[in-house]
Amino acid sequence: MNIDDSTYCRLDTSRFSPEPALFFVFGASGDLASRKIFPALYDLYLEHQLPQDLLMIGVARREYGTKQFRELLHDACVAHSRHRSEALHDEAWSDFSGRIFYLRNDVEDADSYGAIRKLVVERDRGALAGLSPDARLPENTLYYLAVTPELFPLIAEHLGRSGCGSDASAKGWRRLVVEKPYGKDQQSAARLTESLHRWFEERDIYRIDHYLGKEAVQNLLHFRFANTIFEPVWNRNYIDRIEITVAEQDGIGTRGGYYDGFGAARDMLQNHLTQLLCLTVMEPPASLSPEHIRDEKVKVLRAIPEYSDAQILARARRGQYVSGVSAGGNTVPDYRAEQKVRPDSTTETYASLTLSVENWRFSGVPITLRTGKALAEKYSEIVLYFKRPPTALFAALCGDLLAPNSLTVRIQPDEGIWLSFNAKVPGEPAIRSNSLRFSYREVADYFPEAYERLILDALSGDSTLFIRADESELAWRLIDRLEAAWAGARPDASPREGGLFRYPAGTALKVLREQIEEPSRLEGGG
Ligand code: BG6
Repeated sequence: MNIDDSTYCRLDTSRFSPEPALFFVFGASGDLASRKIFPALYDLYLEHQLPQDLLMIGVARREYGTKQFRELLHDACVAHSRHRSEALHDEAWSDFSGRIFYLRNDVEDADSYGAIRKLVVERDRGALAGLSPDARLPENTLYYLAVTPELFPLIAEHLGRSGCGSDASAKGWRRLVVEKPYGKDQQSAARLTESLHRWFEERDIYRIDHYLGKEAVQNLLHFRFANTIFEPVWNRNYIDRIEITVAEQDGIGTRGGYYDGFGAARDMLQNHLTQLLCLTVMEPPASLSPEHIRDEKVKVLRAIPEYSDAQILARARRGQYVSGVSAGGNTVPDYRAEQKVRPDSTTETYASLTLSVENWRFSGVPITLRTGKALAEKYSEIVLYFKRPPTALFAALCGDLLAPNSLTVRIQPDEGIWLSFNAKVPGEPAIRSNSLRFSYREVADYFPEAYERLILDALSGDSTLFIRADESELAWRLIDRLEAAWAGARPDASPREGGLFRYPAGTALKVLREQIEEPSRLEGGG
C-alpha cells in the first residue's frame, strides 16, 4: 500500500472490537447466506479479522447435516468469496469450516428453539453435535435473520419466549441483525419495531442497510470532517444542487414476487438513497459515537418538508421498463412479463424525487435522488454541483459553456472522488473542464465487501452503520407520501403529474432523464 507513514493515522477503535460469539444465521440455506454472509465470514477469516472462538451456526428447515452444510458452503465460498480467484486452501478451509455447524429448525415451531436455548441459556455444549472438546463456547450471541421479513417478529418472539432474547442479567450480549426490507411503510415498520422491542432492546437491534457498509460510503464522513477545504463550501451559498444516483443494468430477474409489491421507491429510495442523502448533508456530529452520528441523520430527515400530493408529484418521476436489449446484448422481457409480476402492474422500476432539506445549511438546494433498473449503465454516485462564478471575466465570455465545478463521490464500481474545475487549454485561447481524480483501488490492497464491515461491526457493538428505529420510520414517512400521491395519480398521466413512463430496457440514463426528468430543477422548499 502506498501510504506516507507520517500522515497515516490509525483511529482508536479499541472501544469496538469484534468479540467471540455464537453466530446464528437463520435462513442458512437461502441465497443471502450463501452469496453474502458466509463468503464474507470466510473472507474475514482469511484476513485474520474474525475473533478466535467464533462459532457459526446455520439454522434452516432443510434436512442437512453439518457435514453436508459445510460442503454447500465450500461451493458458495468458491463462487462468491472475495478470494474466489485463489484456490480455497485446504488447511484454511478446514479450520474455518470446523467452526460451522448446522441446526435443523422450523422457525415457525416453538419447540424447535429448544436446541438454541440449550446452547445460549443452558450453555450445553452437547447441543452442537461434533463440537470439539477443547473449543470454547462463547458467551455472546448474535442472531442474523436472513429470512423473509414476515418471519422477523415470529423468530424474535420464539427466541424471546425461550429466554434467548436481550437479557441484562446474562453474562454476554445478545444481538439481533435484521435485513431489509424493514417494513413496507411507516406503520408496518413501527409495528415491526414494537414487536422486536418486546424481546430485544433497541441497542441490541442491528438493522442492515448494506450501502452503509460500502467503503466509499463510509468515507463520506471522513472526507467531509477530516478536511478543512470542503466543509466551508458545503452549503447553500456554494452548492447549486445535489444529485444522488444508483443506476442498475439488471432487470428484476427472478425477484418479481417481492419486487412487484415494492417498486423502486420502497426498494431503494427509502433506504440506500436516503442514507446517502443523510450522510451528504448532515451537520458534523458532536462526536464519532454511533448515537451522535445517527442523531444528525435523523435531523436531516426531519428537515424534509411535508409535501402535498401536487408538490410531491411535480418533484417525482416514475417509470417502468418494457422489453429491450440490455447493455450486455441480452433481450430483457417487458417488466409485466417477468415471473411473478402482475400483467397490469404499475409498479415502478425507475423512480426519482427532487426534495430539499430545509435546515440552515441547505435550505432551498434541490437534491435529486434517482434509481432505476434495466438501464444502460451501472453505477452509484453523489454529485455536488457548485454555483457558477460571477458573470464577469471568463464567465461573461463563455456563458453556459463554462462548466460549474462539481465534486463526485463515486460509490461504485470505480470507487473514488473526482473534482472538476476549469483550466486553460494549452496552446489555445480556450477553457475546458478537467478533473482531479482520486481512485480508491489505487491506494488500497485490502478492499472489504460491505457485508464484511457490517458483520464485524455487529460483533463489535458498533451500530454506526446500522439504521435506528426512528431513522427507518422517518424515511418511510417520506416514501409513504410519495406512494400515496402516485396511488392517486393516473398511470397514463404525464410524467410531471405522476404518470408511469415506459422505457425500453437498456435505455441510457441521460436519455431517460431528458425525456421525463427535465426540467427537474425545482426551486424552494414548498
Ligand atoms: C438491494 C435491492 O437492497 O440493493 C436491490 O433490494 C438492488 O433491488 C441492490 O439491486 C443494489 O445493491 P448494490 O450493492 O448491487 O448496488
